[in-house]
Amino acid sequence: LPFRHVAIVVFGASGDLAKKMTYPALFSLMANNMLPKDRTHFIGAARSKYKMEDFHKKISSGIKSSDQQVLSKFLEKCPYISLSAYDDGPSYQRLDSEIAKLESQSTGSGKNLRVYYIALPPSVFGDVSENLRKYAWHKEGINRIIVEKPYGKDYQSAKVLSNKLASLFTEEEVFRIDHYLGKDSVKSVLPLRFGANPFLSSTWSREHVQYVTVNFKEAFGAEGRGGYFDEFGIIRDVMQNHLMQWIILAGMERPNSLSVKDIHQAKLKFINDCRPVRPSDVIIGQYTASSKDPNKKAYKDDETVKKDSKASTFATAVLYIDNDRWRDVPFVIRCGKALDETRAELTLHYKTPPDSLFPSESGRTGTTFTIRDHPEKSHVLTATTKKPGRGFTVLNAPLSIDFSNPKYTDSYVPTAYEVLIYDAVRGDHTWFVPREEAEEAWRVWDDAIKNSESRNPLKYEYGSEGPKEEKDLLKQLGVEFETGEGRTVDVAK
Ligand code: BG6
Repeated sequence: LPFRHVAIVVFGASGDLAKKMTYPALFSLMANNMLPKDRTHFIGAARSKYKMEDFHKKISSGIKSSDQQVLSKFLEKCPYISLSAYDDGPSYQRLDSEIAKLESQSTGSGKNLRVYYIALPPSVFGDVSENLRKYAWHKEGINRIIVEKPYGKDYQSAKVLSNKLASLFTEEEVFRIDHYLGKDSVKSVLPLRFGANPFLSSTWSREHVQYVTVNFKEAFGAEGRGGYFDEFGIIRDVMQNHLMQWIILAGMERPNSLSVKDIHQAKLKFINDCRPVRPSDVIIGQYTASSKDPNKKAYKDDETVKKDSKASTFATAVLYIDNDRWRDVPFVIRCGKALDETRAELTLHYKTPPDSLFPSESGRTGTTFTIRDHPEKSHVLTATTKKPGRGFTVLNAPLSIDFSNPKYTDSYVPTAYEVLIYDAVRGDHTWFVPREEAEEAWRVWDDAIKNSESRNPLKYEYGSEGPKEEKDLLKQLGVEFETGEGRTVDVAK
């Protein structure tokens, strides 16, 4: 990296995301020699007051490292600065001179790079960005700002946020992060579709696909996150951003090339073709306590949650795309916390050709193609074939790649955050969200979210499959989330 010094400043360093994701990612980048060891610092900034030792203890608790020496070396590069307030100018002057000191001690050559990683509530975002621009932007160096979600709460607030950013920074300097775009499972959609797989690319449309599902389930709840969750709810938490990004890549037309511009253009075109989700096509739920496990408490029993909270912790929504490839194909998206399992997958459910000699009762043989992120990273295509033995029972057998098999990777597979922070350090915008895309994605969801907030969420028990009423919606659409793996169809001949 051609920099004299690299300063990565983590705003919100005392928070959960910093402990669980950001610092472990920074540690890994360092330990894997992705950043210049002698010329990089990771500066934590937040309002909490910490003794350095306590701050280091806090961030170390999220880092899995068997080598104490490597960890201590990393911690030496992690100073912490406590800001008196997010709108306090002198605090930012202190931050600036702290970074300048580190830069002046560096023996590297090239420009200084400052990357400001902002993981803070939207309410303080304006103050932080203004003060950063005013006091801590390196005049001759390169400055970048990574903006975490939530990127606004709706179309209007996202636009206000964009205008604010545009008044302070160039679009080149802004990196809107969605960690799903750092995942191999999400990016792999491109080579799968536009690589050399005619069996996929030629069937990837309404002609052959009956419907598409995204099934995102977590076996844990929103414990301790009530402050955020009560205000944002699950549609904003994962559906409008992470799962939407997955769908965009799975649904968009072929970009002209893999250039940043072409990929971003193809993505935006797809969003523009998305019909706003109809409120009647959305089911929402909130979990109640488990009747089996006393530790699995209701969402509302969490001390960080408002007692009368109507926040949704479960949602199923149907999205339609008004273009020639996808017209009338439902994209059914489910996301939920406190369910019976943890799973994240996107599945194409294929139609059974009308002349199939082996139709199932439901009208399809259940052939599916799944890209899975949880519980394991895999691709699974199912094929209809004969079940060995007498008779003519047909089964759907998986033709699969499980990426946990070491033969598919050379060594270490970085986390999504590592990949994206490194991209931002290199200045590569490909897997970040450009301004218009971030705004337009809200347009698709605004009405549905607003309407859902006026409703009482349906109840479902912690550890269950979600609200029972979801089944009615699925039945009406003729949709199943299950993939074709392991399905058998008996056609007695
Ligand atoms: C985060 C959400 O952005 O993504 C969490 O705030 C969610 O609620 C998480 O659990 C899911 O990410 P992953 O990578 O575990 O699928």
